Amino acid sequence: MASKNPSFFFLLLSLTLALWSLIFPASSSSSYYYYSLKDVASDDEGDWALLQSSIGISAMHMQLLKNNMVVIFDRMDMGPSNLSLPNNACIQKPSQPPDCTAHSIVYDVASNTVRPLLVQTDTWCSSGSLIPNGTLVQTGGYHEGDRVVRTFTPCDDSSCDWTQLSVPLGERRWYASNQLLPDGRVIIVGGRRAYTYEFFPKTDTASLTFYMSFLKETCDGYGNENNLYPFLHLLPDGNLYVFANERSILFDYNRNRVLKEFPVIPGEFKRNYPSTGSSVLLPLRLNGDVLPEAEVMICGGAPYGAFNNSNYKRVFVPASNTCGRMKLTDPYPKWVMEVMPMPRVMSDMVLLPNGEVLIINGAMNGTAGWEDGTNPVFNPVLYKYYLLDPARRFVVLNPSKIPRMYHSTAILLPDGRVLVGGSNPHEKYNFTSYYPTDLSLEAYSPYYLKPRVSAMRPSILSVETSDGTVLYKQVFAVTFQLNQYNPGSQILVSLVTPSFTTHSYSMNQRLMFLEVIEVQQLSTYDYKVTARGPPTATVAPPGYYMLFVVHAGIPSQAVWVKVV
Ligand SMILES: *[C@@H]1O[C@H](CO)[C@@H](O)[C@H](O)[C@H]1NC(C)=O
Ligand SMILES: *[C@@H]1O[C@H](CO)[C@@H](O)[C@H](O)[C@H]1NC(C)=O
Ligand SMILES: *[C@@H]1O[C@H](CO)[C@@H](O)[C@H](O)[C@H]1NC(C)=O
Ligand SMILES: *[C@@H]1O[C@H](CO)[C@@H](O)[C@H](O)[C@H]1NC(C)=O
Ligand SMILES: *[C@@H]1O[C@H](CO)[C@@H](O)[C@H](O)[C@H]1NC(C)=O
Repeated sequence: MASKNPSFFFLLLSLTLALWSLIFPASSSSSYYYYSLKDVASDDEGDWALLQSSIGISAMHMQLLKNNMVVIFDRMDMGPSNLSLPNNACIQKPSQPPDCTAHSIVYDVASNTVRPLLVQTDTWCSSGSLIPNGTLVQTGGYHEGDRVVRTFTPCDDSSCDWTQLSVPLGERRWYASNQLLPDGRVIIVGGRRAYTYEFFPKTDTASLTFYMSFLKETCDGYGNENNLYPFLHLLPDGNLYVFANERSILFDYNRNRVLKEFPVIPGEFKRNYPSTGSSVLLPLRLNGDVLPEAEVMICGGAPYGAFNNSNYKRVFVPASNTCGRMKLTDPYPKWVMEVMPMPRVMSDMVLLPNGEVLIINGAMNGTAGWEDGTNPVFNPVLYKYYLLDPARRFVVLNPSKIPRMYHSTAILLPDGRVLVGGSNPHEKYNFTSYYPTDLSLEAYSPYYLKPRVSAMRPSILSVETSDGTVLYKQVFAVTFQLNQYNPGSQILVSLVTPSFTTHSYSMNQRLMFLEVIEVQQLSTYDYKVTARGPPTATVAPPGYYMLFVVHAGIPSQAVWVKVV
């Protein structure tokens, strides 16, 4: 009788798996269970904190750097911001009044302070990527800035600022996407009316751009493109997954060849700007030299014509409430669709250090674009991708009070919080309209930061490598302190990239669970976990990563490592 009851079946399965993880705490070949379900009350809905009521600019683009500073910028063509440039500096553009305000800042996470930076040309709707040495390379923007490459190299004092490089991009890049490649180059794909891709660094053949018909084919027309800011994910075999509109391909960028076209995502929804959804590569579980499976997840979006409806008719159609998951490494990949607790457009998806996915910000109606969205979604949603029961995967979290719609952002911080900022659905800074331009910064703290679970939070003592460098395939140890070991829970080591986030898409976002070889208890509260570095640069492109130790689903604070 009981066996006919599906919830009994899942209970039995969970118990079996929990028992199984108790016996084999250090390693697992299961794709979906890496800590037992009874672990910590993850039904807790988290907390919001206002960090700054105004940082002076609107956080349209954000990038965390290896020294725990966050570069934030908006645009040069929306009038004066609420933050003056130091030393009476001004930017003088032809036939315009001088602008003596900042449009970029660097935010110091530890001290919760802001320093204005000087951008020379317009960075509106641009893209970026960290390169392996930790420097931010930012590409494109608008108008006089649309072919400019800018760099920002982190410093621990106030000496660093933006540098404009002399070699321009081969094409205008406005709403393009970037991905760091295994050889340390950055690929820059698409943009408005740009059906090409190109690479950074620029050399003598700098202006070389490569035509990509997929970008033209997936464009629904000017203004309604639905394929801008294409979603890029570097796959473990080194090829690039490119998703635009509702289609996706496996792309060999070295030979400019489409290797495979995946099925169209089901449902009548477009997933890229202005029908802005979001996309993540779900955590990669590493095991020896075997290339890991890779699965993409895309959530939200809007139907065909939604932008015209809101922009010209003031009709705000409901956003998509669906997510699609597809295992890209399967021989015959298929989308598996799921339903979110509410519809969402312009939401960010943030990979938390324990692999869970936070869906945050956005609106329930309309699209991206000026005045084109309405009905903000205040509640983030947690997605537990590893649960077998789809009905339990989504958890609705505590709401923020601030609408975060078009031009808002969210990124993971090394302490496990999520930094949330921006929202400017207007052409200019506008502090009096219905959804005013927002200059504040907030932090969302997920359930795992609650004081009542702090005894179960690992605290990293040392990463035993030279200079914090992790070589490919290198076996290395991490020692950590833990006051209360939860029997049966696995110890995991995750590596998370700092992503470049804008327009609901986090470029380069990537999380890997390293192969854990052994966990040893050194003394009452001290432990050592031995793990293996990623197998190849195609799995983990070189550069700086946040390393977390996760116990019972609760992450430590991160230590920065450099993977080379
Ligand atoms: C920005 O400055 C304007 C003009 O001084 C002021 O009205 C507004 O309140 C400020 N906004 C914020 C969010 O600080
Ligand atoms: C990293 O490389 C860039 C581009 O070559 C260079 O401008 C920058 O100074 C380098 N950063 C560091 C920290 O060496
Ligand atoms: C949107 O409106 C423009 C201007 O009226 C028109 O040219 C275009 O075809 C429309 N696109 C869609 C998808 O409805
Ligand atoms: C948003 O969409 C819902 C349907 O999901 C609809 O009932 C509602 O009227 C729309 N809201 C606005 C402000 O258009
Ligand atoms: C701000 O928005 C309001 C209403 O949305 C509009 O009437 C006003 O003109 C806007 N102000 C500026 C400076 O754009």
